[in-house]
Amino acid sequence: HAILILNGPNLNLLGTRQPEVYGPTTLQDIEAICAAKAISLGVTVEFVQSNHEGVLIDRLHAARGVFDGIILNAGAYTHTSIALMDAVSSIMLPVVELHLSNIHAREAFRHQSYIAPVAIGQICGFGAAGYPLAMEALTGYLGTHG
Ligand code: DQA
Repeated sequence: HAILILNGPNLNLLGTRQPEVYGPTTLQDIEAICAAKAISLGVTVEFVQSNHEGVLIDRLHAARGVFDGIILNAGAYTHTSIALMDAVSSIMLPVVELHLSNIHAREAFRHQSYIAPVAIGQICGFGAAGYPLAMEALTGYLGTHG
């Protein structure tokens, strides 16, 4: 199986960005963790980050026929973007919603997710460890559904 890991705005700053919230791990470290996890799961992984909503939407569209499933940390677009929700609804691919922080334990505006209703599930609150957890969850899902 082929997995796309899509990271949204400000996640390129991980490591220096509010480490008390998001931890000390950089996005590059997380990419390496995911590459190692892919080998142990027997899947391939592509890791992408963009600060631009339209680029994220384009990458979701382009995933059709190329990837079997997607892990999406949409950053703050999670809480604002009906366009991203519509893109996820449109591509007919399983999407796991991911956040480093526990969005439900934070400000009220982070409690709403436009991704959650169109995702197969959500992982949040486990920091960088959520990425390999999401890969395991998606691989398990693909094993039974795809
Ligand atoms: C985040 C949570 C969002 O609320 C926030 O805007 C982010 C990161 C997370 O991974 O915890 O940018 O998606």
